[in-house]
Amino acid sequence: MQVLSVASECAPLVKTGGLADVVGALPAALAAQGVTMRTLLPGYPAVMKALKDPKVVSTEPALFGGSARLLAATVAGLDLLVIDAPHLFDRPGSIYLGPDGRDWPDNPERFAALSWIAAKIGSNGIDGWRADILHCHDWQAGLVPEYLHGMGGTGKVGTILTIHNIAFHGLADPHKMAALKLSPYRYTADGFEFWGRISALKAGLVGADRLTTVSPTYAAELMTDAFGMGLDGVMRARRGVVSGIINGIDEVVWNPATDPAIAPYKTPKDKLKNRADLRAEFDLPDAPGPLCAVVSRLTEQKGLDLLLEALPTLIGRGGQLVLLGSGDAWLEQAWRAAARDPNIAVRIGYDEGLSHRIIAGADAILVPSRFEPCGLTQLYGLRYGTVPVVALTGGLADTVISASPAALAVGVATGLQFHPVTTDALSGALSHLCDLFAQPETWQTLQTNAMRQPVGWGPSARAYAALYQDTIPKR
Ligand code: ADP
Ligand code: GLC
Repeated sequence: MQVLSVASECAPLVKTGGLADVVGALPAALAAQGVTMRTLLPGYPAVMKALKDPKVVSTEPALFGGSARLLAATVAGLDLLVIDAPHLFDRPGSIYLGPDGRDWPDNPERFAALSWIAAKIGSNGIDGWRADILHCHDWQAGLVPEYLHGMGGTGKVGTILTIHNIAFHGLADPHKMAALKLSPYRYTADGFEFWGRISALKAGLVGADRLTTVSPTYAAELMTDAFGMGLDGVMRARRGVVSGIINGIDEVVWNPATDPAIAPYKTPKDKLKNRADLRAEFDLPDAPGPLCAVVSRLTEQKGLDLLLEALPTLIGRGGQLVLLGSGDAWLEQAWRAAARDPNIAVRIGYDEGLSHRIIAGADAILVPSRFEPCGLTQLYGLRYGTVPVVALTGGLADTVISASPAALAVGVATGLQFHPVTTDALSGALSHLCDLFAQPETWQTLQTNAMRQPVGWGPSARAYAALYQDTIPKR
C-alpha cells in the first residue's frame, strides 16, 4: 500500500500546531501496518534547508506564476517530496502570514500549487512511483479531488481528506477562478462555491472519496450548526463516508521516563522534582494548591479568555498557573497583564523544550477550548501524570474520563471535564481540581490512571490502514 500524504506542515521541519505533529507521526505509525507513506510538502526555507542531496524528480515550467522543481529526499526518517517553488514558498517568517500579520494574499495560489502537484502525482505517478491513496490534510490540500477530476485522474487513486480544523476554509475571491485553474462549471452550491467565494476546503469535502476528522466526537459535532462553521450541511450530506479517528502522540518524543528536557520519572511521586524546577525557572513561590499549566496557541478557539476570568478561583484556592503561548495580540496582552500576579507566570513565544518542562512540572494541564477537533496537550498531560482539566468537546471529550464520584469510585477517572464552556463552569472545575488535589490518595490515583491510559498511535494507525484499504480504487 502506497500513500502520499499531502500537507502544509510536518514536524519536526515546520510546525504551527498539532497538524504538524500528526503529519510527522503518521508515516512511522503506518509503517507498522505495512503502509509506505511519502509526504508532499511546500519548500519553505526551513524545509529546503533540511534537505541533504535531494534528487530532482520533475520540473514544472509554470506552476502558479513561476517555475518549480519537485525534489525527493529523506529527512528525519520521513520520505519527502518537496515543491521547490521560490516564488510561492521562499519567504521569511510565518508560513501562512505576511509581515503585517495577515494571510499572504496569494495563499490560494500557494496551496493550489501543493494540491495541483499532488493530483498530478496521483494521476501519473512520479519517477516510477505510484500512490494508491492521496491522504489530504485540511484546506491546503482541499483542491486535490477537484484537480484530479480535471486531469482525468479520478478513479486512478483513492482520495481521503482529513479535517483537522473546520474553522479554516481556504477562501478565495471568484475572480481567481482562472488563476487557480478551476472550472467555473463546478462553482456551484454542490461544488466548491461557498457564499459567493471559492472554498478549497469545501472542494475537498464534496470531492474526496472519504472524509475523516481527528476524533469521533468532532465528527458528530461537525454535522451540527453549532460546530460546522457553515459546512454542517455538507458534512451531513456526506455522513456515510465520514469517520472520526483520534490522534495519537509520539511516545518517543513524549516519554517522561526518557525525556532529555526534564528530570525523568516513572511515577507521580518522582515527578515532583520537575515541579520544583519549574517554580524556580519562573520565580514562583511555593503554594498549597495545584500548579496548573497551559501550552497553546492564543486564539478564540482555545477559550483562554475564559481562563483569565476564572483565575481568581484558582489563585484564591492557593493554586498557580504557568502559560506558554503565542497568537492573537489582544490575548497576548491580556496574559502579560495577568502575569503581574506573583502566582501567575506567562511566557509569550514558541518554545518546544519549555513545553516539555511545563508539562512535566505542572500538576494539571488546562484546555478550556470552545471547540477542539482533537487536542494534543491533554494527551501529553495524561502521559506525564499531569491531570487534564478540559472542556467537554471534540477530542477532549473522547480522551479524558472525568472524575465524577462514580468514576472515582470505580477507579477509572483520569482528569476533569466541564460543560458548558463558560467562565462559571470552568471556575467550578478549577475549584473541584483544588478539592481533589487536597486529597493526596485520590490525587495520586488520578495521576496513576492518567499515566496508564494508552495515548499512542496503535489503534488509530490500524484504523487508517483499514480505511486506506477500503478506499483503493478497483483498477
Ligand atoms: P492546535 O493544533 O489547535 O494548536 P493541538 O493541541 O492539537 O492544538 O496541538 C498544539 C501543538 O503545538 C502541541 O504539540 C503543543 O505542545 C504545541 N504548542 C502550542 N503552542 C506552543 C508553544 N507556545 N510552544 C511550544 N509548543 C507549543
Ligand atoms: C488542529 C486542531 C487540534 C488537533 C490538530 C491535529 O490544529 O485544532 O485539535 O489536535 O489539528 O489534528
